Amino acid sequence: MRAVILAAGQGTRLRPVTLTMPKPLVPVANKPLIVFALDVLRNAGLTEIAIVVNDMSSPIVSQLGNGSSLGVRLDYIVQREQLGLAHAINLCQPFVGDKPFCVFLGDNIFQDNMESLLRDFPESDADATIALGEVPDPTRFGVAEIKEGKIVRLVEKPKDPPSNYGVAGVYLFRSSIFEAIANIRPSWRNELEITDAIQYLVTNGKNVNPYVLSGWWIDAGKPDSIIQANQLVMGEMPYTPPPDDKAMIQGKCDISHRVQLGEGCQIIDSVVRGPVIIGANVTIRNSFIGPYTAIGDNAIIESSEIDASIVMKNCTVRNIAGRIDSSLLADNSQLTSATHVPVSHRFILAENSFVQL
Ligand code: G1P
Repeated sequence: MRAVILAAGQGTRLRPVTLTMPKPLVPVANKPLIVFALDVLRNAGLTEIAIVVNDMSSPIVSQLGNGSSLGVRLDYIVQREQLGLAHAINLCQPFVGDKPFCVFLGDNIFQDNMESLLRDFPESDADATIALGEVPDPTRFGVAEIKEGKIVRLVEKPKDPPSNYGVAGVYLFRSSIFEAIANIRPSWRNELEITDAIQYLVTNGKNVNPYVLSGWWIDAGKPDSIIQANQLVMGEMPYTPPPDDKAMIQGKCDISHRVQLGEGCQIIDSVVRGPVIIGANVTIRNSFIGPYTAIGDNAIIESSEIDASIVMKNCTVRNIAGRIDSSLLADNSQLTSATHVPVSHRFILAENSFVQL
């Protein structure tokens, strides 16, 4: 079975980070979001994958290339105008032909590996199977009503949700979905909604099955949800003993278990309490790095304390009084301090930002 990953969105809810970095490349536990989707697909045996991007000049294309380093074969499909998920899926018809296929939203991240869902769909009697997650706030999502094990109604972002089953970003379709897309109209937000196309299948007597996800599911479209995804993924890091490489760890350090150090790191006179992931060539001096923190390559952290945060590549954090918590610093951000500041800080910074407190 072939798969398509939708990754052309503007990521407006994640600005300013997404002004220069497409949302699917935002790192969670030092790995681009979209690579989590690629891992799920490859692990279930789906290796022929098309990614829908908004332009061939997207960094997604240059970074992932033909997919060989990830064990998949990637094609790219361009969606110039963001006219909705159903519009994007329609552009994939030449790629998937008349065979069953999987659609994966590039900004959703799951604990469930969905292996049975992905392997069993082609032989099943379902016209479509939709992954659903139980959510406390269904008004933010497409919502499914289930009766006797079938989806009997789907509504996009309802004010009065018929259930707590939010439509998660994984859909299994057959070519009947293209006829459905041809028969829907743009919604109030002027998008061709895939939810409406699935409702068309239901209305026309097709067999639409639910797949209720196990474990957590995050629609990582906003800074808070990216930080939450980072914590959930890092929470699953297996036990590893405290690293003790003398070339990397110098002076008086206290480094706990579940700490991954990249090549060429230097940790000097610092406390690192896992789970923590530190990329290559990072320098940490006279600092505290707390649980659920991921630090990208070439970052420098000096005389600062950071907890539960994502610090991307080439950032500098220096002399910050008080603890930085739940923060997202995009590539090349600089955060330095000369004088006294309040005890708590929180930053959402764009690439190349510079903050002096
Ligand atoms: C889209 C879908 C919605 C689904 C959600 C999952 O919403 O339209 O049905 O529940 O993805 O992430 P959007 O992210 O476009 O608001």
